[in-house]
Amino acid sequence: MSKLINLLTKDIISDPLSVTEYEKAGGFTALKKAAKSSPEDIISEIKKAKLLGRGGAAYPAGSKWEHLLHITETPKYIVCNADEGEPGTFKDRLIMDKMPLKLLEGIIIAGLVFKAKAGYIYVRGEYRKIQHHLIAAIKNLHAAGYLGKNIAGSGLDYDIHIISGAGAYVCGENSALLNSTEGKVGRPRIKPPHLAEVGLFLHPTLVNNVESFTNIPVIVNMGGDAYLEAGHPDSGGSKLVCLSGHVNNRGVFEIPLGKVTLRDLIFDEEFGGGIKGGRKLKFFHLGGQSGAIGGAHQLDTIYSYADLRKAGLSVGSGAIVVMDESVSIPEYLKGVTEFFIHESCGKCVPCREGNVQLLKILERLSVPGAAHQHDLNTLNRLVHTMTGASFCGLGQTATAALHSALKHFKTEIEYYFTQQYIEIDYSHLHKEGAVR
Ligand SMILES: Cc1cc2nc3c(=O)[nH]c(=O)nc-3n(C[C@H](O)[C@H](O)[C@H](O)COP(=O)(O)O)c2cc1C
Ligand code: SF4
Repeated sequence: MSKLINLLTKDIISDPLSVTEYEKAGGFTALKKAAKSSPEDIISEIKKAKLLGRGGAAYPAGSKWEHLLHITETPKYIVCNADEGEPGTFKDRLIMDKMPLKLLEGIIIAGLVFKAKAGYIYVRGEYRKIQHHLIAAIKNLHAAGYLGKNIAGSGLDYDIHIISGAGAYVCGENSALLNSTEGKVGRPRIKPPHLAEVGLFLHPTLVNNVESFTNIPVIVNMGGDAYLEAGHPDSGGSKLVCLSGHVNNRGVFEIPLGKVTLRDLIFDEEFGGGIKGGRKLKFFHLGGQSGAIGGAHQLDTIYSYADLRKAGLSVGSGAIVVMDESVSIPEYLKGVTEFFIHESCGKCVPCREGNVQLLKILERLSVPGAAHQHDLNTLNRLVHTMTGASFCGLGQTATAALHSALKHFKTEIEYYFTQQYIEIDYSHLHKEGAVR
């Protein structure tokens, strides 16, 4: 029996931009239902569904929506985070490419719930074609009366705008994203205040990920209880996971949360199909560069937010990067750290300087005899300082891979620090007459 599920991917139509085709496949029934329901009823279904934000932080969507509903200040804005900058993550692109109308339906439902002034989709700068695709989909929704004046006969005037990112990973962080949308430098804001209170243009704002919004019509249609049932008791529904690296089958797979293991995902024929070339698995990196890495001894962990957390891992963005036995842990960690040096916005010291110091130490590991035990201590100190003192999530999670590697691949890492170091005897230099 297949372990795949198709809550999100079931109505993929041949022409993703055709409103009539989408309607024939059941599209906009959720929007029509929502137009007749109270905001409280819709939010109650999302809460029952236990939908956790799919952008990486896993914040409960129902609580976020409820918080914004209780805020009386207007206007309110809806923002969809389509920055998708996390390496190894390409599931939002699939949604925007193959089911843009379902995503837009979710963003329109949010607009109705909060009587919002407008919606924005902040799309990764490199997804230029996708941006045009979404603009075409929005145009078709205007023609069909789902956007513009008096949408779906609800009395609300509502439009959705596309904003292009410019290739900065930090702009995926929700407050940096809002700054960038406003035309400011894409650097994170101090929180609190919460974005639900002081968000876009300093007004109350909802920020959710593409996959989170796409789940809204699914929940409204099937009901929160059925959605919860399809997934894990702590987090309902499905997750789009992105398999890449040294597996035979790479791609996006929709899986029920809590019902498959990491072993299934990497080795089952209908998912990863095992390691390329018959080589052995060395490790997997979950949730993007900001996530932890795990080893073969964790393969029986169930893929759910709760189970992965217990194992020191995380769902994050849904990325699963698989590496075979030929990959050296320090070399891999160097690549991760170079990414964070490149993407650090430079606003705070722990992240801006910490990542550079980490790389210096990791580079010493490639030179026989250059690394020393005290470097290992510095590495551990940097991990804790950067996690605790960085201003935003980028710096706070930049050391997640290193931290987990220090736990699971201790022997390999310690080998570089202890076995190769050659103590040089300088004592003769200090003999009388040798050093002036
Ligand atoms: C450095 C950084 C990059 C992020 N990039 C993304 C991103 O590309 N897409 C995304 O949806 N969330 C991203 N996030 C998470 C967002 O800040 C935020 O939690 C998310 O958009 C909320 O939506 P959700 O609750 O539906 O997941 C990022 C966070 C950080 C710290
Ligand atoms: S942790 Fe600091 S330097 Fe790094 S991206 Fe965030 S604000 Fe910028």
